[in-house]
Amino acid sequence: MHTHHNALGLAAALRPVQPVTLIRPHAARRAARFFIEKFPGRSLYAVKANPSPDLLRILWESGVTHYDVASLAEVRLVNETLPQATLCFMHPVKAEEAIAEAYELGVRTFSLDTMEELEKIVRATDGAQDLNLCVRIRVSSDHSKLSLASKFGADPAEMKELLFATRQAADALGICFHVGSQAMSPKAYAEAMERVRAAIVEAAVTVDIVDVGGGFPSVYPGMEPPELEGYFEVIAAAFESLPVSYSAELWCEPGRALCAEYASVLVRVEKRRGDQLYINDGAYGALFDAAHIGWRFPVRLVRDEASESKPMAFSFYGPTCDDLDHMAGPFHLPADIAAGDYIEIGMLGAYGCAMRTAFNGFGATAKVIVDDEPMASLYGDVLEDAREKAVQL
Ligand SMILES: Cc1ncc(COP(=O)(O)O)c(C=O)c1O
Repeated sequence: MHTHHNALGLAAALRPVQPVTLIRPHAARRAARFFIEKFPGRSLYAVKANPSPDLLRILWESGVTHYDVASLAEVRLVNETLPQATLCFMHPVKAEEAIAEAYELGVRTFSLDTMEELEKIVRATDGAQDLNLCVRIRVSSDHSKLSLASKFGADPAEMKELLFATRQAADALGICFHVGSQAMSPKAYAEAMERVRAAIVEAAVTVDIVDVGGGFPSVYPGMEPPELEGYFEVIAAAFESLPVSYSAELWCEPGRALCAEYASVLVRVEKRRGDQLYINDGAYGALFDAAHIGWRFPVRLVRDEASESKPMAFSFYGPTCDDLDHMAGPFHLPADIAAGDYIEIGMLGAYGCAMRTAFNGFGATAKVIVDDEPMASLYGDVLEDAREKAVQL
């Protein structure tokens, strides 16, 4: 992979015609170290957020040894990329064949939220005695920007029977949940832990693992969360007071928080129509969330000489022939921006680059390593700058 200092160096040197993914290994390393050193338990990486083998290797080298995988393809990928990693198959609805192959490949931790899934796991592993089984409880997504409250999770009323049955089949019994992605307050975890407590008390079973899932936030325009340490403190206090086995482990499964800062994308403006910019990446590329759920990513004009023009609000059209390929923004950029200009779109390391398709013949991107800071950060000295910048945007 080529290396450049930053987006400007790259744009000036190459004038790329296709979008370019700018990779910041140091940002992923910093995020991983932060979780490894400060989270009061074990940090898994949720591979779905960005399955790039380069990123997986960076996280492994930074001390992330456990990986939350949700499909057989992710099991195989991590197994091949990091043969020594521990994999946890945390999708509550799996194909029986996928469970069997994962078990063959060494996976011992599975999640479930129904009796049927428990029976499936027992069948697919031939009643294995060495399973860690995590029962997923439904919790609210009220504090999060992206809900995960409808699809998965046993209702609190179903937990007693499920925990009891799972205890019989498991070597280690866990309870897991997901508070929704981009949780904007630590209260999300405090409230979820209260549900966990009630479930344990009611079922009166010994619990060995409490997995608080993902949901840890990143920084985006209009979404400036409190510091992550505050989340960790709330989780540690709630865990300490749970009636679990004395050797119980606390886990988390961040996706977004570990990799949002890892990548940005350099795009070119192909046409301007008033306050609409036609760019060469979009809804079928790295900007799925910007198009479909109105997520706002930070943007900056990448031009040799800084523009003197005031910022104004733009929306984007992507490169495909589809009206849906539209990102409403608003994205604030200098008013004199024109066709031929380059824009860097930040914080696309999580659920951005991972969602790219080749629809309509678009989707090819080069990857280049850069060593400047991401456009926003929840880690280290750049935090305050990022907060100020995000407020201005
Ligand atoms: C089971 C599970 N764990 C972890 C994650 C990662 O969530 P986030 O990226 O919000 O940290 C997800 C995301 O969908 C998930 O479904």
